[in-house]
Amino acid sequence: MPYQARIIAIALLTLVAAACLSPAPAPAEFFNLPRLHPAERYGNLLIDRLSTKKGVKPATFSHLLHRERHTCRVCHSELEFNMKLNSTEITEAANVAGRYCGACHDGKVAFGQEQCRKCHNGEIGYGKEKLPALLSLPLVKTGFGDRIDWVASLRKGAIKPRNHLKSESREPPFDRELSLEAEWVKFPPAIFPHKAHTDWLSCSNCHPDIFNIKKKTTKHFSMPLLLKGEFCGVCHLGVAFPMNDCKRCHPAFSAEQAMP
Ligand code: HEC
Ligand code: HEC
Ligand code: HEC
Ligand code: HEC
Ligand code: HEC
Ligand code: HEC
Repeated sequence: MPYQARIIAIALLTLVAAACLSPAPAPAEFFNLPRLHPAERYGNLLIDRLSTKKGVKPATFSHLLHRERHTCRVCHSELEFNMKLNSTEITEAANVAGRYCGACHDGKVAFGQEQCRKCHNGEIGYGKEKLPALLSLPLVKTGFGDRIDWVASLRKGAIKPRNHLKSESREPPFDRELSLEAEWVKFPPAIFPHKAHTDWLSCSNCHPDIFNIKKKTTKHFSMPLLLKGEFCGVCHLGVAFPMNDCKRCHPAFSAEQAMP
C-alpha cells in the first residue's frame, strides 16, 4: 500500500474506532413506540375469546385496579392466567367453580359471579370511578405509563399486595442485578434488577419461556424486538412501565443520545 493511502486508511480506522467508543444516538426507530393506552386505562383489557360468540359482552379487566391488592404471581402463576390476551381458557363454569376470576369473585374477596354486567359490559374504561381512591394512597408517581412508580410505592409500604391466595410455596430469594450490554450499537447498557421483579413475579413467569437462566444467552435479544412485545416488552409495553421511559432501564441514557 502506498504511504499516503496507508495514512488515510489509519485515519479512517481511528475515526471509526472513535465513533464506536463514544455512545451513539439511538436509531430513530427506537422512538417509534407502539401506541400506549392513556394513564387511566393503562393495562386495561377486554377479554373476548368466547363472550361475543356466546352472546354476552366482552369482559372488562383493569390491571391498575387489581395490582394494588394482588401481585402478578397470584394471577399469572397461582391462578394460571397467561400473559397474553384471550389465550387463557376462562369459562363461566370454571369461574363458578372457583377458578380464574372466580377465585376472588366469589362474593367474599370481591363481588360474586351473579353480577354478570360488572364484568360483561364491553367497556374498556369500566371502573374508572374507583381510580381516585387508588390515587389517594401515598403512591410515588412517575411521568410514564399509568404514572405510578410501583417499585418505590411497594418499598415504602404505600401498598401491600398479597403474594398468594392459598399456596404458600416460597421461592429461593435471588437479588442479582444484571447489566445487559447492547450488541450492535454502542449504547449505555440496560439494567435488570431481579429484586424489583421477584417482589411481583415468580421465576417461572420469565424462566425458561422468555429468558434463559444465564446472562447474555437469550437469543435475538434486542431493542427492536422488545418494541414488538418480546422479551422485556412482554410486560413493559402494556402493564409495567412502558418503553418510552428509556432512563429507567438505561440509567446512563442522556439527552444527547436521543434523536432530534
Ligand atoms: C368477575 C367477572 C365475571 C363475572 C361476574 C361473570 N363473568 Fe362470565 N366470564 C368472565 C370472563 C373473564 C370470561 C372469559 C371471556 C372470554 O373469553 O370471552 C367469561 C366467560 C363467559 C362466557 C363465555 C364462555 C362460556 O363459559 O360459555 C359466558 C357465556 C359468560 N361468561 C356468562 C356469564 C354470565 C351469564 C354471568 C352472570 C351470571 C357471568 N358470566 C359473570 C368474567 C365474568
Ligand atoms: C387479578 C389478576 C391479575 C393480576 C394481579 C395481574 N394480571 Fe396480568 N392479566 C390478567 C388477566 C385475566 C389477563 C388476560 C389473560 C387472557 O385473556 O388470557 C392478563 C394479561 C396480562 C398480559 C397480556 C396483556 C396483553 O395485552 O396481551 C400481561 C403482559 C400481564 N397480564 C402482565 C401482568 C403483570 C406484569 C402483572 C403484575 C404487575 C399482572 N399482569 C397482574 C390478570 C392479572
Ligand atoms: C386475585 C383476586 C382477583 C381476581 C383473580 C380477579 N379479581 Fe377482579 N377484583 C378483585 C378485587 C379485590 C376487586 C375490588 C373489590 C370489589 O370491587 O369488590 C376487583 C374488582 C374488579 C372489577 C371492578 C368492578 C367494580 O365496579 O367494582 C372488575 C370489573 C373486575 N374485578 C373484573 C375481574 C375479571 C374479569 C377477572 C378475571 C379475568 C377478575 N376480576 C379477577 C379481585 C380479583
Ligand atoms: C421479569 C423476568 C425475570 C424473573 C421474574 C426472574 N428472572 Fe432470572 N433472569 C432474567 C433475565 C432477563 C436474565 C438474563 C438473561 C440473558 O441475559 O440472556 C436472568 C438471568 C438469571 C440468572 C443468570 C444470572 C447470571 O449472572 O448469569 C439466574 C441464575 C436467574 N436469572 C435466576 C432467577 C431466579 C432464581 C428467579 C426467581 C427468584 C428469577 N431469575 C426470576 C429475568 C427474570
Ligand atoms: C414478566 C413481566 C416483566 C418482564 C418480562 C420484565 N419486567 Fe421489568 N418490571 C416488571 C414489573 C411488574 C416491574 C415493577 C414496576 C412496574 O410495574 O412498573 C418491573 C420493573 C422494572 C425496573 C424498575 C426497577 C426500579 O427499581 O424501579 C427495571 C429497570 C426493569 N423492570 C427492567 C426490565 C428489563 C431490562 C427487562 C428485560 C430484560 C424486564 N424488565 C423484563 C415486569 C417485567
Ligand atoms: C424495559 C427496559 C428497557 C427500556 C424501557 C428501554 N430499553 Fe433499550 N434496551 C433494553 C435491553 C435489555 C437492551 C439490550 C439488548 C441486548 O442485549 O442487546 C437494550 C438495548 C438498547 C439499544 C442497543 C441496541 C440493541 O438492540 O441492543 C439501544 C440503542 C436502546 N436500547 C435504546 C433505547 C431507547 C432510545 C429507549 C427509550 C425510547 C429504550 N432503549 C428503552 C431495555 C430497555
